[in-house]
Amino acid sequence: MPARPAGAEDPGMTAPGRPGHRSAAVLEAVVTLTRASGAYDVVSLAVPPDPAWERCRPGQFVVVPGELSRGEPLPTLLWVAGVSVDPVHGTTVDVVLAASDGQRLREGRAQRLLGPLGRGFGLPAHPVPVLVAGHEAGSVPLRWLVALLRERGCEVHLVLSADDPDRHLEVGPLRRQASTVMLTEGDRFATTVGGRLDELDGVGVVYATGSRDQVRDVAAAARDRGRASRVAALDLQEPVLCGTGLCGQCDLRVVVDGQTRRLRACLEGPVLPGEWVADAAR
Ligand code: FES
Repeated sequence: MPARPAGAEDPGMTAPGRPGHRSAAVLEAVVTLTRASGAYDVVSLAVPPDPAWERCRPGQFVVVPGELSRGEPLPTLLWVAGVSVDPVHGTTVDVVLAASDGQRLREGRAQRLLGPLGRGFGLPAHPVPVLVAGHEAGSVPLRWLVALLRERGCEVHLVLSADDPDRHLEVGPLRRQASTVMLTEGDRFATTVGGRLDELDGVGVVYATGSRDQVRDVAAAARDRGRASRVAALDLQEPVLCGTGLCGQCDLRVVVDGQTRRLRACLEGPVLPGEWVADAAR
């Protein structure tokens, strides 16, 4: 039986709003492969089989707990870049680190992990044109997301931004999957998304990853044009995140049904309806 990419059987759009990972346990993984990809390293880890990995979606993440004995006191949060479930070769999880951190997860290393955590991106119930937008390392889940959207029959348009062209992630593979790819810079991210929505016909859903401000601006651009959006409202580039609901660093203000409230993105997200964040005060 061939390996099946996890997340391929999602029935519909993400149902937001419930805590997603209270039962996740620490597991023992082993780094099996490290592959350089421009300014990043793609790291594959063998993990114990678990139905949670088969249900895992783009937009979920793992926590590498801090280990004082290794000189790594703080936890590190990493987007899941892909999951492969194979009855012969086992379950493999891909994550992406900045190349400067790549030595941390070198091949053969045994590594404790917590995950998969959070709520990921859902897929449209029917094939529709979609616009997928990501900034720098925030784009880690996008290759997997685009592959699933293509399997669903969606026409995919991409906007990728980076402040330094070297920090674009896997543009080549994404070009092969998407109908169009627009590259831009971080301060023009939401403007470019808005421009593409004006140019493209029938985009049904906008998906976005990036900083909190960037995804909020993209969500506002989508809302202003009457388009639904789903955004990853957790920026893993922010320092000192726990990923488990303890630190409060990921809290953000959202507006749900006209009511403003605070939301803990690592527990109730990270993927949220864009309308929830588009109207929230900064
Ligand atoms: S990242 Fe610590 S509470 Fe969410």
